[in-house]
Amino acid sequence: MCGIVGGVSKNNNIVPILINGLEKLEYRGYDSAGIAIINHNRIQRIRSVGRVSNIHKKISQKNLKGKTGIGHTRWATHGGVLEKNAHPHISNNEIVVVHNGIIENHAKLCDFLKNKNYIFKSETDTEVIAHLIHYFRKNKPSLLEAVHKTCKKLEGAYAIAVSNKNSNEIIVARNGCPLIIGVSEDQNFIASDISALISVTNNVIFLEDGDIAVIASDSYKIFDDNLNQINRKIYKSSVKENQMELGPYDHYMQKEIYEQPIAIADTIESIIDEGSINPKLIGGLKFDASKYESILILAAGTSYYAGLTAKYWFEHLAKVPVNVEIASEYRYRDAVTPKKQLIITISQSGETLDTLEALKQAKKNGNKNSLTICNVQESAIVRQSDYVFYTRAGVEIGVASTKAFTTQLVCLFVLSLIFAKQRKKITKKNELAYIEELRKLSGHIQTALNLEPQIKAWAKKFSRKSNALFLGRGIHYPIALEGALKLKEISYIHAEAYPAGELKHGPLALVDKDLPVVVIAPNDKLLEKVKSNMQEVKARGGELFVIADADSQFDAEAGIHVIRTNRHVGILSPIVHAIPVQLLAYHVAISKKTDVDKPRNLAKSVTVE
Ligand code: F6R
Repeated sequence: MCGIVGGVSKNNNIVPILINGLEKLEYRGYDSAGIAIINHNRIQRIRSVGRVSNIHKKISQKNLKGKTGIGHTRWATHGGVLEKNAHPHISNNEIVVVHNGIIENHAKLCDFLKNKNYIFKSETDTEVIAHLIHYFRKNKPSLLEAVHKTCKKLEGAYAIAVSNKNSNEIIVARNGCPLIIGVSEDQNFIASDISALISVTNNVIFLEDGDIAVIASDSYKIFDDNLNQINRKIYKSSVKENQMELGPYDHYMQKEIYEQPIAIADTIESIIDEGSINPKLIGGLKFDASKYESILILAAGTSYYAGLTAKYWFEHLAKVPVNVEIASEYRYRDAVTPKKQLIITISQSGETLDTLEALKQAKKNGNKNSLTICNVQESAIVRQSDYVFYTRAGVEIGVASTKAFTTQLVCLFVLSLIFAKQRKKITKKNELAYIEELRKLSGHIQTALNLEPQIKAWAKKFSRKSNALFLGRGIHYPIALEGALKLKEISYIHAEAYPAGELKHGPLALVDKDLPVVVIAPNDKLLEKVKSNMQEVKARGGELFVIADADSQFDAEAGIHVIRTNRHVGILSPIVHAIPVQLLAYHVAISKKTDVDKPRNLAKSVTVE
């Protein structure tokens, strides 16, 4: 949800570093981009709607150079996708600001500033920040003090980077949106995340809410929200530049789909010690599942569907009751909190504001312990949680989550085994059998990936459709939900998912010859029920696309297309069946020529409400 990058260098032109950083951050927002450079007491700004490549062209034309600068990729919240709304925003040719987040009281601040004769040139909430800093500087305090005073007036979530026309420093502040400092020799940087900086440094400091920092080429100073100087630890990031490269793939989503066997294997091995699951490997903390009587899972989007799948595992294996709730709904509900409930949040980015705020609300509601399943080191949700179970998916760039989802599922399955083990609901023999099955999972995923040519053929049929229906039952219903979300997200085809048994209670009315119906139909105990539901569709002329196991015993016939994964893998089957629905969405999007990695109106990290 908007990406920020900035830097101050003693000797180097900062412009190529900013452009490279913005390209890496584009997944956070891609409707417009801009940079501002401080040069000879002047702010030079270039902005453009569309992709970073558009400002790149303008920069070359203007031969823009400088040693201090800030840049931004935008995901519009306040104000349309217009150049005048693109960041950086400038006040009186003196103060320049980029911002990620939402200023909730911007209308009030805007009225105040208009009374002081400030003229607004954009429709954004960000412009008030630039003008307020300018206003507070009038009595000649330092830029740091003016930013500090401004922050005290802001309500909402923000990460900001600020400079002024005769400065070779950048001031940054964060409250609710991520911001890091990248430390290097004779040059220092700031960014929304490490991906923007890996070409220049892997020494990073994660700022915390309330922090304000002054960045110069040879120093950085961090202050708390009373302007007392503080220290923050420098971390060595393990993210490598080649992890961000496309390699032989056409799209990041395709690359990430194909990385799943390895990502899953890495995630499993991170928790297995001498052949057995070792809970101590979860964030290095002693985790005692036997003290919890229930679990509440909070998440959004695809991560929520991972939670829905996990409910079946926890209840089946560990006999622990689980509720799964959409984070943005839980926040505003008068939830009744049972004693001894563990909160589990699931988030690829660790930044999703809805999930972060739901976690905070859960703590206010009296829940004492929380565990997060997350893919990003030191992210906001990680810092707010007692226990962390990292998915080892590696950087996920495609906006539509794929490898993060399947590694989340692996973590959740392992966690349900830990619960079962510590609550004495599973024998050692069964634990070892599950570990054995887990270790075979990457092979099953590989076989599912080999279905690509058949799925490509299916995709051609979907690309002409306007609607699609996904059906699943039991533990595969969340995979139907995920399939529908993936399809609508990247191909813009309207798709709905239903538990197949619900069909007759309403959605059957939609079925006709133009409606493709995808059915997740593995050889589990509900297969016969699913087959009956399929007959209901077939009898009404619907076209069925069935994702079965090798042993599901279906035959393709007129109106029924069947593809098969490996043999049925029991309760791990949802992880295998996630692959065909990902590939289907990917290939439908390709045949519709949509922007697979950056679907319209979306962004990767959703740090606004
Ligand atoms: C869909 C997708 C989103 C995210 C959701 C939560 O493909 O990626 O639905 O799952 O925005 O994001 P995280 O997991 O980062 O909290």
